[in-house]
Amino acid sequence: MKTVLITGGSGLLGQRVIPLLLAQGVCVRALSRRPGLNTPRLTWIQGDLRDPLAVPQALAGADTLLHLATQPLQPGADLALAQPLLQALPASGIQHAVYMSIAHLERMQSMPYYREKLDIERRFEACGVPLTLQRSTQFHEFVVQVLQRLTLGHLTLIPTGVTLQPVEARAVAHHLAQLTVGEPAGRVRDLAGPDSMPLEHLARQWQLQQGRRPTLLRLPLPIPLFRAWQHQAAVGTAAQAVGRAWSSWLADAAPEDTQLQARGA
Ligand SMILES: NC(=O)c1ccc[n+]([C@@H]2O[C@H](COP(=O)([O-])OP(=O)(O)OC[C@H]3O[C@@H](n4cnc5c(N)ncnc54)[C@H](OP(=O)(O)O)[C@@H]3O)[C@@H](O)[C@H]2O)c1
Repeated sequence: MKTVLITGGSGLLGQRVIPLLLAQGVCVRALSRRPGLNTPRLTWIQGDLRDPLAVPQALAGADTLLHLATQPLQPGADLALAQPLLQALPASGIQHAVYMSIAHLERMQSMPYYREKLDIERRFEACGVPLTLQRSTQFHEFVVQVLQRLTLGHLTLIPTGVTLQPVEARAVAHHLAQLTVGEPAGRVRDLAGPDSMPLEHLARQWQLQQGRRPTLLRLPLPIPLFRAWQHQAAVGTAAQAVGRAWSSWLADAAPEDTQLQARGA
């Protein structure tokens, strides 16, 4: 029986991939710093990828690696998370590595996180283990998180010049689970949602879904993430369109995925 080690199994995408992998009859080992429950065919390993002892322990008995762990807000962190895996792969039983990456990385190199993702892609391609490399655009859920952070009271700040083609994380998880149990496929076609839209339109629909009157203020916000996103605007992606469009996803999404959260400290 196939055994998949998934990193980042507690994350936005990982939580959606694990049940799909289990439904395909494989054994799953999930590595995360948080505790998790063991269930039939799911072994939860609490550990940190930067701990030299955690990686060999997590890899034991696995034939497939699905690497999703990430720390976008900490420059240098993603390389530090990938490197112990990349070093351990040749001597491990892993015959298929799957790496999840981000569409249009080449156009967004002004941002350190996106530079790192591109570097890690290249390291996986050079590591000698047969690879599947999947990229997608930003998840709907992540766009909501960004809009939440840009919202102060009734006002949502809109960085100018940003157009996105966000995708439903569940649809990406579905493709990733299929690819993970399949044969190594190399670089596969990028995934994106059906609609490309200015961030302003995404924000307006989100506010209406919240029952709020859209109040948007367009600003040239000098934040690296938005500068990077300006460069992926309207690039005419050759991506495969999957999942629900933003508006229908918003209409059906669980309230905790879309509601404006009370700001904590
Ligand atoms: N979010 C998007 O819009 C988007 C779009 C395209 C591609 N992607 C890519 O998809 C992948 C998954 O993204 P996501 O949005 O699901 O990420 P996420 O929700 O931020 O989850 C990050 C995961 O990384 C784990 N992690 C972080 N540091 C770790 C460490 N030191 N040791 C072990 N685990 C660690 C976290 O687990 P614990 O905190 O439990 O340790 C968590 O499960 C990433 O490669 C990302 O670049 C994301």
